[in-house]
Amino acid sequence: MSDRIEAIREAERKSHTEIYSTAKLFEKGSWLAKPVKTVMDLLPMLREKNPVTILDLGCGVGRNCIPLAKELSENNCKTDAVDILEFAIEELTVNSKNHGVHESVNPIVSSIDDFSIEPDKYNLIIAVSALEHVSSEEVFRKKLHEINDGLKQGGIVCLIANSEVTETDKSVNSRVDPQFEVNIKAEEMISLLNGAFENAELLKVSVSEQNYDIPRENFISALSTKVVTFVAQKVK
Ligand SMILES: C[S@@+](CC[C@H](N)C(=O)[O-])C[C@H]1O[C@@H](n2cnc3c(N)ncnc32)[C@H](O)[C@@H]1O
Repeated sequence: MSDRIEAIREAERKSHTEIYSTAKLFEKGSWLAKPVKTVMDLLPMLREKNPVTILDLGCGVGRNCIPLAKELSENNCKTDAVDILEFAIEELTVNSKNHGVHESVNPIVSSIDDFSIEPDKYNLIIAVSALEHVSSEEVFRKKLHEINDGLKQGGIVCLIANSEVTETDKSVNSRVDPQFEVNIKAEEMISLLNGAFENAELLKVSVSEQNYDIPRENFISALSTKVVTFVAQKVK
């Protein structure tokens, strides 16, 4: 792994450990307060299935997979929940127990890069702010195809990823290397997604420009990103 990727991963590990130690799942006022609406909007389609199998890539502490498991408790729901950070998976395990869904959530410590997606297994695959953290554009492309293969007929993919990120050290007002392993233009990301899921029916595609401050190791960074949301259903 290159020095750049190792440095980003180490910084990510520190910042997510800090975030998950301070903000508790579903606590008001933090980014963990609620699941992502685009994900939860898929529930009516999933309720038609039994059993339901879900893969949550870069699941964190369960912000999305725990509410899905709760809502689908009547549907024999099983979720593989994957995160690179051991602390996130420990917290996910505790949170799953606290929310009564530990039997349907399978916590897995792995990078997305190393996690091999079984073909034809899942009714839903989600990756929220995670897929852009694979180690290279080549792995990113490969994972998109693995995700497509991992979906059952009628399965849904829901990807939300940062693109075209810039970061500025606010103390000196100078650009720094964005702390995202894969940082491509929004247009290019959409074209890769359309190519990988060419046999799927597009349910949603959007790009939302967002700007916010984020703490980095020694400074506050003004981050600008184009968040790509892509939802599609495998029809063939
Ligand atoms: C911004 S958080 C989002 C967590 C969750 N998807 C959510 O929406 O609450 C990104 C998560 O991806 C994990 N992550 C980062 N790089 C990863 C990788 N290469 N493989 C697996 N997980 C990764 C981080 O540990 C972190 O928990």
